[in-house]
Amino acid sequence: MNPTDTPRRNVILSGMQPSGELTIGHVAGALRNWVALQDEFDSLFCVVDLHAITVRQEPAKLRRRSLDLAAMYQAAGVDASRSVIFIQSHVPEHVQLSWVLTCLTGMGECSRMTQFKEKSDRHSDNINVGLFTYPILMAADILLYNADCVPVGEDQKQHLELARNLAERFNHHYSPTFTVPEPYIPKLGGRIMSLQEPTKKMSKSDPNVKSWIGLTDSDDEIRSKIRRAVTDSGTDIRYDELARPGISNLMVLYHVATGKSFADIESEFAGSSGYAPFKEAVADAVAEYVRPIRERFVAIRADEDALGRTLRHGAEQARERARKTLRKVYKKTGFVEL
Ligand code: TYM
Repeated sequence: MNPTDTPRRNVILSGMQPSGELTIGHVAGALRNWVALQDEFDSLFCVVDLHAITVRQEPAKLRRRSLDLAAMYQAAGVDASRSVIFIQSHVPEHVQLSWVLTCLTGMGECSRMTQFKEKSDRHSDNINVGLFTYPILMAADILLYNADCVPVGEDQKQHLELARNLAERFNHHYSPTFTVPEPYIPKLGGRIMSLQEPTKKMSKSDPNVKSWIGLTDSDDEIRSKIRRAVTDSGTDIRYDELARPGISNLMVLYHVATGKSFADIESEFAGSSGYAPFKEAVADAVAEYVRPIRERFVAIRADEDALGRTLRHGAEQARERARKTLRKVYKKTGFVEL
Protein backbone atom coordinates (compact mmCIF):
# COMPACT_ATOMS: atom_id res chain seq x y z
CA MET A 1 0.00 0.00 0.00
CA ASN A 2 1.18 3.50 -0.77
CA PRO A 3 2.00 5.19 2.59
CA THR A 4 -0.34 8.07 1.71
CA ASP A 5 -3.24 5.70 1.10
CA THR A 6 -5.66 5.36 3.96
CA PRO A 7 -7.05 1.85 4.46
CA ARG A 8 -10.54 1.29 3.05
CA ARG A 9 -13.18 1.77 5.69
CA ASN A 10 -16.15 -0.55 5.53
CA VAL A 11 -19.03 0.97 3.59
CA ILE A 12 -22.65 1.28 4.66
CA LEU A 13 -25.45 2.32 2.37
CA SER A 14 -29.13 2.66 3.06
CA GLY A 15 -32.16 4.47 1.73
CA MET A 16 -35.78 5.40 2.29
CA GLN A 17 -38.62 6.13 -0.06
CA PRO A 18 -39.96 9.67 -0.23
CA SER A 19 -43.47 8.32 -0.53
CA GLY A 20 -44.97 9.68 2.67
CA GLU A 21 -44.19 10.85 6.15
CA LEU A 22 -41.57 9.06 8.19
CA THR A 23 -42.74 7.20 11.28
CA ILE A 24 -41.07 6.26 14.53
CA GLY A 25 -40.68 2.82 12.87
CA HIS A 26 -38.22 4.26 10.33
CA VAL A 27 -36.12 5.66 13.15
CA ALA A 28 -36.27 2.53 15.30
CA GLY A 29 -35.55 0.13 12.44
CA ALA A 30 -33.03 2.11 10.43
CA LEU A 31 -32.24 5.79 11.00
CA ARG A 32 -30.89 5.50 14.53
CA ASN A 33 -28.43 2.88 13.28
CA TRP A 34 -27.35 5.10 10.41
CA VAL A 35 -26.48 7.75 12.97
CA ALA A 36 -24.76 5.28 15.27
CA LEU A 37 -22.66 3.76 12.47
CA GLN A 38 -21.69 6.87 10.51
CA ASP A 39 -18.50 7.51 12.52
CA GLU A 40 -17.15 4.04 12.06
CA PHE A 41 -18.23 3.45 8.45
CA ASP A 42 -17.83 5.17 5.14
CA SER A 43 -21.54 6.03 4.88
CA LEU A 44 -23.94 6.82 2.06
CA PHE A 45 -27.63 7.58 2.54
CA CYS A 46 -29.92 7.82 -0.41
CA VAL A 47 -33.40 9.27 -0.95
CA VAL A 48 -34.79 6.59 -3.26
CA ASP A 49 -37.14 8.61 -5.45
CA LEU A 50 -36.88 6.14 -8.35
CA HIS A 51 -38.31 3.47 -6.07
CA ALA A 52 -41.17 5.74 -5.02
CA ILE A 53 -42.71 5.87 -8.52
CA THR A 54 -43.48 2.15 -8.43
CA VAL A 55 -46.72 3.44 -6.93
CA ARG A 56 -48.45 6.55 -8.32
CA GLN A 57 -47.04 9.82 -7.05
CA GLU A 58 -48.09 13.42 -7.59
CA PRO A 59 -45.01 15.13 -9.09
CA ALA A 60 -45.09 18.24 -6.88
CA LYS A 61 -45.56 16.14 -3.75
CA LEU A 62 -42.78 13.74 -4.71
CA ARG A 63 -40.38 16.67 -5.22
CA ARG A 64 -41.33 18.18 -1.85
CA ARG A 65 -41.11 14.85 -0.03
CA SER A 66 -37.68 14.07 -1.45
CA LEU A 67 -36.38 17.32 0.02
CA ASP A 68 -38.26 16.66 3.27
CA LEU A 69 -36.63 13.27 3.53
CA ALA A 70 -33.11 14.60 2.95
CA ALA A 71 -33.80 17.17 5.69
CA MET A 72 -35.20 14.45 7.95
CA TYR A 73 -32.05 12.35 7.60
CA GLN A 74 -30.09 15.28 8.94
CA ALA A 75 -32.66 16.13 11.61
CA ALA A 76 -32.34 12.57 12.92
CA GLY A 77 -28.58 13.04 13.21
CA VAL A 78 -27.01 12.07 9.89
CA ASP A 79 -24.16 14.54 9.46
CA ALA A 80 -23.64 15.65 5.86
CA SER A 81 -19.99 16.45 6.55
CA ARG A 82 -19.29 12.82 7.51
CA SER A 83 -21.85 10.96 5.38
CA VAL A 84 -22.89 11.27 1.76
CA ILE A 85 -26.56 12.26 1.47
CA PHE A 86 -27.97 12.16 -2.04
CA ILE A 87 -31.04 11.64 -4.19
CA GLN A 88 -31.10 8.44 -6.24
CA SER A 89 -32.29 10.04 -9.50
CA HIS A 90 -29.22 12.33 -9.42
CA VAL A 91 -27.01 9.31 -10.00
CA PRO A 92 -28.11 7.62 -13.24
CA GLU A 93 -25.69 4.72 -12.69
CA HIS A 94 -28.28 3.16 -10.32
CA VAL A 95 -30.59 2.52 -13.26
CA GLN A 96 -27.75 1.47 -15.55
CA LEU A 97 -26.45 -1.15 -13.13
CA SER A 98 -29.98 -2.24 -12.42
CA TRP A 99 -30.44 -3.26 -16.07
CA VAL A 100 -27.36 -5.47 -16.01
CA LEU A 101 -28.59 -7.10 -12.80
CA THR A 102 -32.11 -7.47 -14.22
CA CYS A 103 -30.65 -9.71 -16.90
CA LEU A 104 -29.16 -11.93 -14.18
CA THR A 105 -32.38 -12.25 -12.17
CA GLY A 106 -34.93 -15.02 -12.53
CA MET A 107 -38.65 -14.19 -12.71
CA GLY A 108 -39.27 -16.47 -9.73
CA GLU A 109 -36.84 -14.52 -7.56
CA CYS A 110 -38.94 -11.38 -7.96
CA SER A 111 -42.36 -12.99 -7.83
CA ARG A 112 -41.76 -14.51 -4.41
CA MET A 113 -40.98 -11.16 -2.78
CA THR A 114 -43.41 -10.54 0.07
CA GLN A 115 -43.42 -6.79 -0.49
CA PHE A 116 -44.35 -7.28 -4.15
CA LYS A 117 -47.27 -9.48 -3.16
CA GLU A 118 -48.46 -7.03 -0.50
CA LYS A 119 -48.11 -3.96 -2.69
CA SER A 120 -49.75 -5.55 -5.70
CA ASP A 121 -52.71 -6.41 -3.45
CA ARG A 122 -52.85 -2.86 -2.15
CA HIS A 123 -52.41 -1.24 -5.59
CA SER A 124 -54.29 -3.76 -7.70
CA ASP A 125 -55.15 -1.06 -10.27
CA ASN A 126 -51.45 -0.43 -10.94
CA ILE A 127 -49.37 -3.59 -10.82
CA ASN A 128 -46.54 -2.24 -12.95
CA VAL A 129 -43.33 -3.98 -13.95
CA GLY A 130 -41.34 -1.54 -11.78
CA LEU A 131 -43.09 -2.87 -8.69
CA PHE A 132 -41.96 -6.32 -9.75
CA THR A 133 -38.32 -5.46 -10.52
CA TYR A 134 -37.99 -3.01 -7.60
CA PRO A 135 -35.70 -5.31 -5.53
CA ILE A 136 -33.22 -5.41 -8.41
CA LEU A 137 -32.95 -1.62 -8.38
CA MET A 138 -32.41 -1.87 -4.63
CA ALA A 139 -29.62 -4.39 -5.22
CA ALA A 140 -28.05 -1.94 -7.67
CA ASP A 141 -28.22 0.85 -5.03
CA ILE A 142 -26.23 -1.33 -2.67
CA LEU A 143 -23.76 -3.04 -5.02
CA LEU A 144 -22.84 0.16 -6.86
CA TYR A 145 -21.00 1.37 -3.74
CA ASN A 146 -19.75 -2.05 -2.66
CA ALA A 147 -21.58 -1.68 0.63
CA ASP A 148 -20.44 -4.14 3.29
CA CYS A 149 -23.40 -3.51 5.50
CA VAL A 150 -26.96 -2.25 4.99
CA PRO A 151 -28.77 -0.93 8.07
CA VAL A 152 -32.48 -1.60 7.54
CA GLY A 153 -35.61 -2.84 9.30
CA GLU A 154 -36.68 -6.46 9.21
CA ASP A 155 -39.02 -6.05 6.23
CA GLN A 156 -36.03 -5.47 3.93
CA LYS A 157 -34.27 -8.73 4.77
CA GLN A 158 -35.67 -10.58 1.78
CA HIS A 159 -34.56 -7.80 -0.59
CA LEU A 160 -31.08 -7.94 0.92
CA GLU A 161 -30.96 -11.66 0.25
CA LEU A 162 -31.53 -10.94 -3.45
CA ALA A 163 -28.76 -8.31 -3.44
CA ARG A 164 -26.40 -10.89 -1.91
CA ASN A 165 -27.37 -13.51 -4.47
CA LEU A 166 -26.89 -11.11 -7.37
CA ALA A 167 -23.48 -10.02 -6.10
CA GLU A 168 -22.39 -13.65 -5.84
CA ARG A 169 -23.86 -14.51 -9.22
CA PHE A 170 -22.09 -11.66 -11.01
CA ASN A 171 -18.81 -12.42 -9.23
CA HIS A 172 -19.06 -16.07 -10.16
CA HIS A 173 -20.17 -15.51 -13.76
CA TYR A 174 -17.58 -12.82 -14.59
CA SER A 175 -14.95 -12.29 -11.88
CA PRO A 176 -14.89 -10.92 -8.31
CA THR A 177 -16.39 -7.43 -8.56
CA PHE A 178 -18.99 -6.81 -5.88
CA THR A 179 -18.84 -6.96 -2.11
CA VAL A 180 -21.52 -9.30 -0.79
CA PRO A 181 -23.52 -7.06 1.60
CA GLU A 182 -24.71 -8.01 5.07
CA PRO A 183 -28.01 -6.73 6.47
CA TYR A 184 -27.76 -4.85 9.76
CA ILE A 185 -31.08 -5.22 11.56
CA PRO A 186 -31.56 -4.13 15.17
CA LYS A 187 -32.51 -6.91 17.58
CA LEU A 188 -35.10 -4.61 19.13
CA GLY A 189 -36.98 -2.15 16.95
CA GLY A 190 -36.43 -3.91 13.61
CA ARG A 191 -40.17 -4.18 13.28
CA ILE A 192 -42.32 -1.59 15.04
CA MET A 193 -45.97 -2.56 14.92
CA SER A 194 -49.16 -0.59 14.30
CA LEU A 195 -50.59 1.02 17.45
CA GLN A 196 -54.06 -0.08 16.40
CA GLU A 197 -53.36 -3.59 15.07
CA PRO A 198 -50.16 -4.69 16.79
CA THR A 199 -49.77 -7.78 14.64
CA LYS A 200 -49.25 -5.54 11.56
CA LYS A 201 -46.17 -3.44 10.78
CA MET A 202 -46.48 0.29 11.56
CA SER A 203 -46.77 1.95 8.19
CA LYS A 204 -47.29 5.50 6.98
CA SER A 205 -49.58 4.14 4.27
CA ASP A 206 -52.06 2.94 6.90
CA PRO A 207 -55.10 5.23 6.44
CA ASN A 208 -55.77 5.09 10.19
CA VAL A 209 -53.45 7.88 11.41
CA LYS A 210 -53.86 6.69 15.00
CA SER A 211 -51.92 3.55 14.05
CA TRP A 212 -48.61 5.35 13.45
CA ILE A 213 -46.47 8.07 15.00
CA GLY A 214 -45.12 10.53 12.47
CA LEU A 215 -41.87 12.39 13.06
CA THR A 216 -43.71 15.68 12.50
CA ASP A 217 -46.54 14.82 14.91
CA SER A 218 -46.93 17.26 17.80
CA ASP A 219 -46.30 16.20 21.42
CA ASP A 220 -50.05 16.12 22.00
CA GLU A 221 -50.71 13.94 18.96
CA ILE A 222 -48.00 11.51 20.01
CA ARG A 223 -49.30 11.30 23.57
CA SER A 224 -52.86 10.81 22.46
CA LYS A 225 -51.94 8.06 19.95
CA ILE A 226 -49.97 6.15 22.57
CA ARG A 227 -52.68 6.51 25.22
CA ARG A 228 -55.15 5.04 22.75
CA ALA A 229 -52.86 2.27 21.53
CA VAL A 230 -54.54 -1.12 21.51
CA THR A 231 -53.22 -3.28 24.34
CA ASP A 232 -53.91 -6.83 25.33
CA SER A 233 -55.87 -8.26 28.20
CA GLY A 234 -53.77 -8.52 31.33
CA THR A 235 -52.38 -5.91 33.65
CA ASP A 236 -48.68 -6.49 34.17
CA ILE A 237 -45.90 -5.10 32.03
CA ARG A 238 -44.14 -8.12 30.60
CA TYR A 239 -42.57 -8.73 27.18
CA ASP A 240 -44.29 -11.48 25.22
CA GLU A 241 -44.43 -10.70 21.52
CA LEU A 242 -46.84 -13.50 20.65
CA ALA A 243 -49.28 -13.44 23.54
CA ARG A 244 -49.13 -9.68 24.14
CA PRO A 245 -48.16 -7.93 20.92
CA GLY A 246 -49.64 -4.56 21.96
CA ILE A 247 -47.81 -4.12 25.26
CA SER A 248 -44.63 -5.66 23.81
CA ASN A 249 -44.63 -3.10 20.99
CA LEU A 250 -44.95 -0.27 23.52
CA MET A 251 -42.07 -1.77 25.48
CA VAL A 252 -39.91 -1.71 22.35
CA LEU A 253 -40.85 1.93 21.74
CA TYR A 254 -40.01 2.76 25.35
CA HIS A 255 -36.67 0.98 24.94
CA VAL A 256 -35.92 2.91 21.72
CA ALA A 257 -36.83 6.25 23.32
CA THR A 258 -34.99 5.76 26.62
CA GLY A 259 -32.39 3.02 26.07
CA LYS A 260 -33.81 1.09 29.06
CA SER A 261 -33.62 -2.71 28.95
CA PHE A 262 -36.73 -4.89 29.21
CA ALA A 263 -35.63 -6.03 32.68
CA ASP A 264 -35.43 -2.38 33.81
CA ILE A 265 -38.81 -1.61 32.28
CA GLU A 266 -40.46 -4.63 33.89
CA SER A 267 -39.11 -3.72 37.32
CA GLU A 268 -39.98 -0.02 36.87
CA PHE A 269 -43.66 -0.95 36.47
CA ALA A 270 -43.82 -4.03 38.67
CA GLY A 271 -46.87 -3.79 40.88
CA SER A 272 -48.34 -0.77 39.11
CA SER A 273 -52.09 -1.03 38.71
CA GLY A 274 -53.09 -1.56 35.09
CA TYR A 275 -51.47 -0.27 31.93
CA ALA A 276 -52.23 3.43 32.37
CA PRO A 277 -49.04 4.53 34.22
CA PHE A 278 -46.89 2.61 31.74
CA LYS A 279 -48.69 4.13 28.74
CA GLU A 280 -48.20 7.62 30.25
CA ALA A 281 -44.48 6.98 30.64
CA VAL A 282 -44.18 5.69 27.06
CA ALA A 283 -46.18 8.66 25.77
CA ASP A 284 -43.84 11.13 27.52
CA ALA A 285 -40.67 9.31 26.47
CA VAL A 286 -41.64 9.02 22.80
CA ALA A 287 -42.81 12.66 22.67
CA GLU A 288 -39.47 13.74 24.13
CA TYR A 289 -37.57 11.53 21.71
CA VAL A 290 -39.35 12.87 18.64
CA ARG A 291 -39.47 16.57 19.67
CA PRO A 292 -35.81 17.48 18.90
CA ILE A 293 -35.99 15.62 15.57
CA ARG A 294 -39.12 17.57 14.62
CA GLU A 295 -37.59 20.88 15.71
CA ARG A 296 -34.35 20.30 13.81
CA PHE A 297 -36.32 19.20 10.77
CA VAL A 298 -38.22 22.52 10.67
CA ALA A 299 -34.96 24.50 10.86
CA ILE A 300 -33.09 22.42 8.25
CA ARG A 301 -36.02 22.31 5.85
CA ALA A 302 -36.42 26.10 6.04
CA ASP A 303 -32.98 26.66 4.50
CA GLU A 304 -33.57 25.25 1.04
CA ASP A 305 -30.31 26.74 -0.35
CA ALA A 306 -28.22 24.84 2.19
CA LEU A 307 -30.21 21.67 1.54
CA GLY A 308 -29.62 22.09 -2.20
CA ARG A 309 -25.86 22.49 -1.62
CA THR A 310 -25.76 19.34 0.52
CA LEU A 311 -27.58 17.35 -2.15
CA ARG A 312 -25.43 18.67 -4.98
CA HIS A 313 -22.27 17.79 -3.09
CA GLY A 314 -23.72 14.38 -2.16
CA ALA A 315 -24.63 13.63 -5.78
CA GLU A 316 -21.13 14.55 -6.95
CA GLN A 317 -19.49 12.30 -4.37
CA ALA A 318 -21.86 9.41 -5.04
CA ARG A 319 -21.53 9.73 -8.81
CA GLU A 320 -17.79 9.63 -8.79
CA ARG A 321 -17.90 6.33 -6.95
CA ALA A 322 -20.81 4.91 -8.92
CA ARG A 323 -19.12 5.68 -12.24
CA LYS A 324 -16.06 3.62 -11.28
CA THR A 325 -18.10 0.55 -10.41
CA LEU A 326 -20.28 0.82 -13.49
CA ARG A 327 -17.26 1.17 -15.77
CA LYS A 328 -15.88 -2.11 -14.38
CA VAL A 329 -19.24 -3.85 -14.71
CA TYR A 330 -19.75 -2.72 -18.31
CA LYS A 331 -16.28 -3.85 -19.24
CA LYS A 332 -16.70 -7.28 -17.67
CA THR A 333 -20.12 -7.64 -19.27
CA GLY A 334 -18.58 -7.15 -22.69
CA PHE A 335 -19.70 -3.65 -23.66
CA VAL A 336 -17.34 -1.75 -25.96
CA GLU A 337 -15.44 1.08 -24.30
CA LEU A 338 -14.91 4.26 -26.27
P1 TYM B 1 -38.87 2.09 3.25
O1 TYM B 1 -38.82 3.43 2.62
O2 TYM B 1 -40.19 1.37 3.25
O3 TYM B 1 -38.41 2.16 4.75
C1 TYM B 1 -37.16 2.74 5.09
C2 TYM B 1 -36.50 2.00 6.24
O4 TYM B 1 -37.30 2.05 7.41
C3 TYM B 1 -37.52 0.73 7.91
N1 TYM B 1 -38.87 0.68 8.47
C4 TYM B 1 -39.18 0.10 9.66
N2 TYM B 1 -38.40 -0.49 10.58
C5 TYM B 1 -39.01 -0.97 11.67
N3 TYM B 1 -40.36 -0.90 11.89
C6 TYM B 1 -41.18 -0.31 11.00
N4 TYM B 1 -42.48 -0.22 11.22
C7 TYM B 1 -40.58 0.23 9.80
N5 TYM B 1 -41.08 0.89 8.72
C8 TYM B 1 -40.02 1.16 7.92
C9 TYM B 1 -37.41 -0.16 6.67
O5 TYM B 1 -37.09 -1.48 7.02
C10 TYM B 1 -36.28 0.52 5.92
O6 TYM B 1 -35.01 0.14 6.41
N6 TYM B 1 -36.74 -0.80 -0.22
C11 TYM B 1 -36.50 0.14 0.85
C12 TYM B 1 -35.72 1.37 0.41
C13 TYM B 1 -34.44 1.10 -0.29
C14 TYM B 1 -33.21 0.70 0.31
C15 TYM B 1 -32.26 0.67 -0.77
C16 TYM B 1 -32.84 0.40 1.61
C17 TYM B 1 -34.21 1.25 -1.62
N7 TYM B 1 -32.90 1.01 -1.90
C18 TYM B 1 -30.95 0.28 -0.53
C19 TYM B 1 -31.50 0.02 1.83
C20 TYM B 1 -30.57 -0.02 0.78
C21 TYM B 1 -37.83 0.59 1.40
O7 TYM B 1 -38.84 0.56 0.74
O8 TYM B 1 -37.74 1.15 2.63
